[in-house]
Amino acid sequence: MKALSWPQDGALAKAAPSAFERWWNMQGEWVEERNQRRGGESGVQLLPAQQPGKPPLYSKRQIGHVFRSLRHPLGLPTVVREEQALIACEALGVRVPKRVFCEARQEAGQWQALLITEELSGFVSLDNWYAEHAQQLSASARRAVLHRLALVLRRLHRGRRQHGSLYSKHIYISVDATQPAVALLDLEKSRRRLFRHKAMQHDLAQLCRRRGAMPETDWAYLLQCYHNPKKQH
Ligand SMILES: Nc1ncnc2c1ncn2[C@@H]1O[C@H](COP(=O)(O)OP(=O)(O)O)[C@@H](O)[C@H]1O
Ligand SMILES: [Mg+2]
Repeated sequence: MKALSWPQDGALAKAAPSAFERWWNMQGEWVEERNQRRGGESGVQLLPAQQPGKPPLYSKRQIGHVFRSLRHPLGLPTVVREEQALIACEALGVRVPKRVFCEARQEAGQWQALLITEELSGFVSLDNWYAEHAQQLSASARRAVLHRLALVLRRLHRGRRQHGSLYSKHIYISVDATQPAVALLDLEKSRRRLFRHKAMQHDLAQLCRRRGAMPETDWAYLLQCYHNPKKQH
């Protein structure tokens, strides 16, 4: 006679939460309050480090926050597009936050989506760099940072990728490395362009308007380095 099979220990209890649920249930302080747009909402929370010695995490949480395209006429969460952009930047050698978790699910017909990245430890935004760090540096150290930023943007554009939200708050500068290092974040609006110069024109015009505390002379220097990276300026 076939033995009756009984459920395994605990299987009658509630099914174990999925990875998505575990991350979704982790709540932290809002660093970017929820914005209502794109037919839904999106916000960013800071989560504590999950293991000793690891950096804290940033969790972008979205509900019904979608983009539509020919391939996705019904819409997909914007973090899905952002994840693709992060992967593309990694392949181009452009530093971006390290991905920890990215997933979207539909609950009662509505998208929920998460993008969790490691904090860029040792980096500050370009705004913060001008407010608190640039004055302490020699003119040549300051120029080395601007030169590095120009190279990072060239690399991005050579890969025909446009950042799409190139504001000073999305440019991060390392303040504890011996070599200048620059990272880019918030690639939600990033996309590939058919021509490199289109990506360049869009991003440089945008950064010119949204460069925050960067003075005119530094902006001019950045452009010189962008257009003539090998020349000693
Ligand atoms: N990995 C990260 N490292 C450091 N700061 C981050 C990171 N991710 C997000 N932030 C901070 O959170 C803010 C909001 O994140 P962002 O990706 O710009 O979201 P949003 O699409 O809501 O503008 C950023 O401007 C930055 O200050
Ligand atoms: Mg942002």
